Amino acid sequence: MDLLASLKDQMKPYRDRFPSHPRLPRTGRPREAILAEIAAMHEAEAPTWQEGYASGAVYHGDEGHIAFLNQVYALHSQSNPLHPDLWPSTAKFEAEVVAMTAQMLGAGAAGGPVCGTVTSGGTESLLLAMKTYRDWARETKGITAPEAVVPVSAHAAFDKAAQYFGIKLIRTPLDAGYRADVQAMRAAITPNTVVIAGSAPGYPHGVIDPIPEIAALAAEHGIGCHVDACLGGFVLPWAERLGYPVPPFDFRLEGVTSISADTHKYGYGAKGASVILYRSRELLHHQYFTVADWPGGLYFSPTFAGSRPGALSATAWAAMLAMGEEGYMEATRRILAAADRLKAGIREIPGLKILGDPLWVIAVASDDLNIYQVMEEMAGRGWRLNGLHRPPAFHIALTLRHAEPGVVDRFLADLRAAAEHVAANPAKQTGMAPIYGVAASAPPELVRQVLTGFIDLLYEV
Ligand SMILES: Cc1ncc(COP(=O)(O)O)c(C=O)c1O
Repeated sequence: MDLLASLKDQMKPYRDRFPSHPRLPRTGRPREAILAEIAAMHEAEAPTWQEGYASGAVYHGDEGHIAFLNQVYALHSQSNPLHPDLWPSTAKFEAEVVAMTAQMLGAGAAGGPVCGTVTSGGTESLLLAMKTYRDWARETKGITAPEAVVPVSAHAAFDKAAQYFGIKLIRTPLDAGYRADVQAMRAAITPNTVVIAGSAPGYPHGVIDPIPEIAALAAEHGIGCHVDACLGGFVLPWAERLGYPVPPFDFRLEGVTSISADTHKYGYGAKGASVILYRSRELLHHQYFTVADWPGGLYFSPTFAGSRPGALSATAWAAMLAMGEEGYMEATRRILAAADRLKAGIREIPGLKILGDPLWVIAVASDDLNIYQVMEEMAGRGWRLNGLHRPPAFHIALTLRHAEPGVVDRFLADLRAAAEHVAANPAKQTGMAPIYGVAASAPPELVRQVLTGFIDLLYEV
């Protein structure tokens, strides 16, 4: 648990910097004092993402856009879609967010009523989809020991769903290009398989799985095919129109039965909203929750939560109307142009390589250098990148922040300097580098204990 002690040390300077509040103040403090305290914390953390130093995290981030979302949020800060009688507008926002997303993702070609709900984020969208397939297969096929087949690159939320809902998750290998190996998926399907899934693109390597083949495999077996387009749902339709190589991935493919797409990522809404879509209302109905005999009244909810923040569907709706097709197309053009420059620059840095053939979520690895130490050197220069493992790598998910002038050049200059430093000092291991090193060789149970301890640390005052 030395690792935890070291993580605690790393968190200490921040914790010491601001007053601690381990219990309720006896009397309420003045609002101005509280606002000043929050503003000080905000000032300390905002520049990292505002100036393009973060992978993903804030996907639009222009001041005017944020101010607009804040206005919408403020108007709806009290609303709750659980009470459509009080706030009918929230039902309208949710219905229209779903309809606009479905239309963007090929619903017109699906020939049926693509339908769905707004959720709290990519994870909830995936959890709901997995629960839906479990319940659908139990009711329509009598499957009581459900299994799901997903490539190892599919998001950790699939593991979460499997744990929560008693689904056996079978993870299949990738091909040399970090795409799902469809033959391996085929071999993993059993009579208990209820759903298979691919990503467009996947979180680790930003690579789009061969969705047409995965969808055809699902159709052949009469099972669900979920496409995780949490990252790509609001990018790929426009990338395709811009002429980038985007294989079909949406409802235009017959076998695709559900898609997740996050409005809080490249949909440019506020954090806390995503969309889950199904090809048929029959599937969607396995997601809903209704109870008819509770003394608290007739109760129903479309997703996991009961009360929900109406402000989030309002901001998603407002962001979509404000962007429009042309806005999304232009944002995608800028992000992909920045990504093209970034990829070309990385390929010129000795010792580094890009995994697979990604569009804008770019994983960097090395055959010669400790890539985690390179990531650590980048952290020392202000960059907040995402560590990956199996194989060791880090990635950067490009956003509109990185399309601002100078950001790509700054990243490449820092990356070159970081790689040169690590090449000259190969034994040095600081920050997260040794932690990733240990995670690669330690038994999974030990790593899980460290992660549990880390969550505890986050809740320490
Ligand atoms: C492909 C993919 N799916 C699902 C998720 C989970 O999304 P969230 O963090 O919004 O729950 C992510 C998050 O990055 C993702 O990249």
